Amino acid sequence: MNRRPLVAGNWKLHNDLDASEALARAVAVGVAEVDDVEVVVAPVFTALDRVRRALSGTRVGLAAQDLHWEDRGAFTGEVSGPLLRDVGCTHVIVGHSERRQLFGETDATVRRKVEAALRSSLVPIACVGETLEEREGGRTLEVVIRQLDAIAVGLAGIDRLVVAYEPVWAIGTGRVARPEDAQAVHTAIRDRLRTLAGETVAACSRILYGGSVKPENAAGLLRQPDIDGALVGGASLDADAFVRIVRARR
Ligand code: PGA
Repeated sequence: MNRRPLVAGNWKLHNDLDASEALARAVAVGVAEVDDVEVVVAPVFTALDRVRRALSGTRVGLAAQDLHWEDRGAFTGEVSGPLLRDVGCTHVIVGHSERRQLFGETDATVRRKVEAALRSSLVPIACVGETLEEREGGRTLEVVIRQLDAIAVGLAGIDRLVVAYEPVWAIGTGRVARPEDAQAVHTAIRDRLRTLAGETVAACSRILYGGSVKPENAAGLLRQPDIDGALVGGASLDADAFVRIVRARR
């Protein structure tokens, strides 16, 4: 197994230019000595350029929170993969549950966005996860594997895909999955990747957990054998908390 953990901060719709720059600088200082974890932050689109400059020469990479599936054209309000590359992004979050629930994204549009990210040499961090109703109905694995299949079946570049398992009921709620429950879903995701793409891809793929990850619960999650990092929302807005999560596995 040779997987470098990835911890990504999803700043969502927070922070103006100055606040984004200050947070980025504080994160970069905090993780400067951490060489065994890949770290990226995802500011709002308007702050990408400012944050890229702030992160220049540091260990922290730049991610976007979304992209459009076409590279250019008459798509008012959208931002494309080539433009994200142009501004310095290396990663992009795709199919976050807020995009699915609030902005009508479907398995089909998420697939197109993952393909667009790969086409632009961006690492897609593709999100999957069940709602509370689905979990209580015993349908967690059915839902997660359906979402994964929509993203990954026949995907050229599947070896570059990062999957983020984010139970919807855990996002922004303070309710975190128990490490062993998250591990069980991560195992199922890796098993499915093995079926779709073979042992090498499955063994090398990074599967992140997301949903109310905090410094207090991060170690228990990140020490699970199939949890290869975290997608962090609320706690990533606090540099100290985020840095503690990055260091939690140690
Ligand atoms: P949270 O968000 O850490 O605030 O729960 C996670 C996410 O939305 O990626």
